[in-house]
Amino acid sequence: MSDSNQNTADAALAALKELKSEIAETVLDSIQAVDDYRIRFLSRKQGQITDLLKRIPEVANEHKKSFGQEINTAKALVEKRIEEATQRLSSVAEESGGGVDLTLPGRIQPTGSLHPITQALRLITRVFENYGFDVEEGPEIEDDWHNFSALNFPPDHPARDMQDTFFIEAPSKAHDGILLRTHTSPVQIRVMENKKPPIRVIVPGRVYRNEAISYKSYCLFHQVEGLYVDEGVTMADLKQIIQAFARTLFGENVKMRFRPSFFPFTEPSAEVDIWWEDEALPDGGRWMEILGCGMVDPNVLEGLGIDSEKYTGYAFGMGIERIAMLRYGIDDIRILYENDVRFLEQFS
Ligand code: DAH
Repeated sequence: MSDSNQNTADAALAALKELKSEIAETVLDSIQAVDDYRIRFLSRKQGQITDLLKRIPEVANEHKKSFGQEINTAKALVEKRIEEATQRLSSVAEESGGGVDLTLPGRIQPTGSLHPITQALRLITRVFENYGFDVEEGPEIEDDWHNFSALNFPPDHPARDMQDTFFIEAPSKAHDGILLRTHTSPVQIRVMENKKPPIRVIVPGRVYRNEAISYKSYCLFHQVEGLYVDEGVTMADLKQIIQAFARTLFGENVKMRFRPSFFPFTEPSAEVDIWWEDEALPDGGRWMEILGCGMVDPNVLEGLGIDSEKYTGYAFGMGIERIAMLRYGIDDIRILYENDVRFLEQFS
């Protein structure tokens, strides 16, 4: 054996001796430490034991056997310590909570949220409840009389056309038509049929219209109807409540206007617009209609046996989608009906 061979063999033996104490003494108190230990000694590419095994050919023949045995003993010790440490660590984890790592950050559970329409509907209803209005509801499947006739719609009014209204049973000489209500106003009639003044109700609900679907109209939507009938109710009362409502919803400084309009069941009638600021527009904003209203037509009261000389009333009706779209900056009504979670979760 040459001198240089002898030297290499000695160096390998010395390295092994040094390793043995490290193998025995390295602290294995975490999964990470065990992993590092395994890599350090046994990894195929850079493991220190693997390295020594590769050096066996350098050792003189007469020492090969004992050198090899020593390496194997060292390797066996590494494996034993890894196994022991792994077992000890996993039983500690189990005692402290069934293998659950309590130091991990919590996982967020997805929660549902109210649909923006429901939120707007509840908000609006609450505002009027605070002013003493009771909440009433009515059927979505209505008869022609409640939806139209009792509300003073003349027989040839265009809304009575199949083009605009979903009829379930077409009206005939023999009987009244059955339809999906086109507004919440028929509930005014149902309330006045059952109660005597003073009446102060708010009616949230779903309505249907046979309209071409586009970014601004859908075949179903929601309305909130209001009705107040008592002695001495005036247009000033109506303006006051609408103003208070608009301030609650759109802020103390909301700019609004009453614009003369026409509805068969109110006289006089008005539509209410609010000024919607939008810097992209040449005027810095535009008027947006938010509701229709007016003084209950005496014909309607008389039709229900309410003395229109003694009692007067105001009524109003608003579309919820439109108000929700304004409030939340939504520019296409259809998105409200797609139930896309990416849209809905923005309202939680
Ligand atoms: N029913 C009307 C519509 O659907 C809205 C409306 C206007 C309701 C005036 C009212 C009212 O109570 O007084 O377009």
